[in-house]
Amino acid sequence: MRTHYCGLVDEALIGQTVTLCGWTDVARNLGGVCFIDLRDHEGIVQVTVDPSNAEVFKVAASLGYEDVLQVVGVVRAREAVNAKIRTGKVEVIATRIEILNKAAPLPFHAHENPGEDIRLKYRYLDLRTPEMQRKQRTRIRLVQALRRWLDARGFQDIETPILTKATPEGARDFLVPARMHPGEFYALPQSPQLFKQILMVAGFDRYYQIARCFRDEALRADRQLEFTQLDMEFAFVRERDVQDTVEGMIRDVFREVMDVELDAQFPRMTWAEAMRRYGSDKPDLRIALELVDVAELVKSSEFAVFAAAAADPDGRVAALRIPGGASLSRKQIDEYAAHAAKHGAKGLAYVKIDEAGEISSPIRKFFAEDAFAALLKHVGAGNGDIVFFGAGAYNKVSDFMGALRLKAGKDFGLVQDGWKPLWVTDFPMFEWDDEAQRYVALHHPFTAPAVDDIADLRANAKTAVSRGYDMVLNGNEIGGGSIRIHRPEMQSAVFELLGIGAEEAEAKFGFLLDALKFGAPPHGGIAFGIDRIAALMAGTESIRDVIPFPKTTTAQCLMTGAPSPIPDEQLAEVHVMVRPKVS
Ligand code: AMO
Ligand code: AMP
Repeated sequence: MRTHYCGLVDEALIGQTVTLCGWTDVARNLGGVCFIDLRDHEGIVQVTVDPSNAEVFKVAASLGYEDVLQVVGVVRAREAVNAKIRTGKVEVIATRIEILNKAAPLPFHAHENPGEDIRLKYRYLDLRTPEMQRKQRTRIRLVQALRRWLDARGFQDIETPILTKATPEGARDFLVPARMHPGEFYALPQSPQLFKQILMVAGFDRYYQIARCFRDEALRADRQLEFTQLDMEFAFVRERDVQDTVEGMIRDVFREVMDVELDAQFPRMTWAEAMRRYGSDKPDLRIALELVDVAELVKSSEFAVFAAAAADPDGRVAALRIPGGASLSRKQIDEYAAHAAKHGAKGLAYVKIDEAGEISSPIRKFFAEDAFAALLKHVGAGNGDIVFFGAGAYNKVSDFMGALRLKAGKDFGLVQDGWKPLWVTDFPMFEWDDEAQRYVALHHPFTAPAVDDIADLRANAKTAVSRGYDMVLNGNEIGGGSIRIHRPEMQSAVFELLGIGAEEAEAKFGFLLDALKFGAPPHGGIAFGIDRIAALMAGTESIRDVIPFPKTTTAQCLMTGAPSPIPDEQLAEVHVMVRPKVS
């Protein structure tokens, strides 16, 4: 249908006749002449129609946005060069225009800044915009670069099932009724975790897969119900083998796709240090602010909240100094308190020191003068600063103070440009779930503990450290992995510590325990969030922008209308009866 792409018509073609196909980006009828910006996936070229060609001019004058055209014309040098577009030095003088398909009036125009809902409903129109094309292509180039890198190094791309048994990664499963087995269900994989481990048992040595994962969890800007991992596994490795390899991969891929040179060696930090200094297990190192522990300096204050948290071995009293923060108004301070509350804070104390050294603070009254001065000195507070204080349970205080650190970083323009990768290591093995009254795995139940000895693990479960690691980039967890348990006894012991009894373990994971019995090599791996890396590369906050057909935060596809009710007959076939909604 065409001889050239619109966006690639150039001076070398001057004098030649070309046939182009594309969309009417805009058509302007200036009376004396008609200009059509004809667009395809390579870009835009100007098609010029002279009224002397009455028949063609009539067609051109009738065009609307997004009409689909085939244009035959002669390439000519352009008098008024348009430096903004690649084809700006030429134009195509139309000798024939055929309307291949008329477009109905558009529900929105990209330049009108339409809301995300309407963009998602008419996603195909949204995806046509240069900005969305750019974002999708960034993702495509990322995946191409990753595949090239892995294929060249002997990683084997192996598919694992989508209809499978639950693989827990801490979210709810999506279930699929099994027509041939009434009352039974497949689960969609939360990750290929168990299959990739079993591939190591099966002797494949180095595996990868660009794998779709399904997790029924609350959606956010960086979370979708279905998302894509670069999933990897290696046999006969320790932490550093995996980390050094994939760090090299990420560095090479950033160089190739982004022309960015990441640190020659990514810094490393234990989970405990990350929580202490940044109040986060995925610290954004582009922000120089750090939390400071002040328990020692407030433990004998008269403020019971501080004194109690300072005395509690599981408590924390932490301060965040924001240079220049004294400019915050009362109302803005309230916004910080509300932000902290959203992240679990029961209150947010502060000390504000204005440029003249005047102090305002709701907690000054609880301190003797010298103790208060010592506190300010310890946190390095000076004129013009504000210091926020959080007190309570260790992880909670870390969380909300970490959230304030991010907010302050953004509000005060303290986020440096550039790329700050980081390894976070030495995660706790278990986390106590108050609601369920039992331990849950912080990574997943197949992650090896740092100790080899089962009795030791049992005795020190609360403080046990795992062999898990996360890769963090600019405050985003872009990848997570671990060295796995490869001995069945240790796997059984960990299940037991997680409150999964022998019978349940056998029913759910018997196939894994079996596989571990028959010569499982030591192994480990990692999975990267492709959507998150693509979003970072494309410079967008939301992974929805780099997923062609994403779900809304209410877990719907506005284009197709999924999810949708299913007729009774079809449900009967799969032996499903819908219960009335319990509210
Ligand atoms: P994990 O659960 O940490 O590990 O997932 C790995 C990476 O996948 C990305 N990710 C997500 N991206 C978008 N939407 C989501 N809902 C979502 N959940 C996770 C993150 C994360 O770092 N099987 C293990 C990996 C392993 O141990 O090898 C796993 O899935 O970037
Ligand atoms: P109160 O005397 O109860 O009004 O508290 C004095 C200040 O301490 C107020 O600014 C509260 O927001 C703050 N505050 C209360 N609880 C906490 C807490 N757990 N951590 C930090 N500040 C708190």
